[in-house]
Amino acid sequence: MTTSTTASNGPSLAGQVALVTGGSSGIGAATAIALARAGADILVNYYSGEEAAAKVRGEIEATGRRAVICQGDVSSESDVVKLFETCEAELGIADIVVSNAGLQRDSAFAEMELSDWQRVIDTNLTGAFLVAREAVRRFQKRGLRPDVSRALGKIVFNSSVHQRIPWAGRTNYAASKGGISMLMQSIAQEVGKLKIRVNSVAPGAIATAINAEAREKGADEIRALIPYGRIGDPQDIARAIVWLVSDDADYVHGHALFADGGMALYPGFIGNG
Ligand code: BGC
Repeated sequence: MTTSTTASNGPSLAGQVALVTGGSSGIGAATAIALARAGADILVNYYSGEEAAAKVRGEIEATGRRAVICQGDVSSESDVVKLFETCEAELGIADIVVSNAGLQRDSAFAEMELSDWQRVIDTNLTGAFLVAREAVRRFQKRGLRPDVSRALGKIVFNSSVHQRIPWAGRTNYAASKGGISMLMQSIAQEVGKLKIRVNSVAPGAIATAINAEAREKGADEIRALIPYGRIGDPQDIARAIVWLVSDDADYVHGHALFADGGMALYPGFIGNG
C-alpha cells in the first residue's frame, strides 16, 4: 500500500499505535503529539513527570486520538514489560516504538562517580535495549497488518550528534549514544528480514530542559557550533520521527538521521585548519 496523506499534508499513521518513552517533556512530548496528529493512538511513558504527562495526554486527546500515560523506568526490565502490557491492554500492540527516554549527568572525567556513569548508561543504553527487545517480541506476536503499514513494526531511537562527536565533560553521555549507534545498526541488520524497520534520529542542540542551563550560560557559543545558525525546536525532531516511522520512509532502514542544523559538520573548520 502507499501512504495516504493527512489534512496536515504529512504522512498518515491512521490505525496505528505508538509507544513513546520519556514522553512527558521535550522531544518525547513533541513526538507523541506529532504522531497523534498523524493519526496514531499513543502510550506516553514518563518517569517522574506525571502532571506533564497528563498534559501531553490532553493535547493528544484534543487531536481526536486516544492516549494513555504510564509511569515506568526504562532501565527496569519489569517496568518495560509493564509499559508494553499496558499499551496492549488499553490501545493494542504498538506498531511504532520511539525509544526516547534519556538523561545527562555531566562531570569532569576524573571526578565522575560510578553512579553517574551507571545512571546514564542504564537509562540511555540499557533502556534502549530493553525497549527495543520488547518491541521486537510484541511486533512478531501481532503479525503484519498490511492495511496500516508495509512494515511489521518500526523502532526509532533518539540518539544524538554525540553518537559521533566526542564530548568532554560528558563521557558517560557520549559513550551511551555511541552505544546506541551500534545497537541500532546491529538490531536493524538482524531484524530486517522480519520486516521490522529500525532507525535513529541524531538531534543536535534542541531547546529542551536537558540543555536549558547550557543555553542560558551560552546560547551564542552553542549557535556558533551550528552552521544553519539556529538552536532546534522539539518539533524539528518530532517531524523527522513521524516521517521515519511512516511508509514514506519504508526503504530507510539502519539509518541515523542527523537533524542538527549541520552541527556534525565540524564547523570549527570554517575558515580554519
Ligand atoms: C544533548 C544536549 C546538547 C546537544 C548538542 C544533545 O544530545 O543532550 O545537551 O545541547 O546534544 O551538543
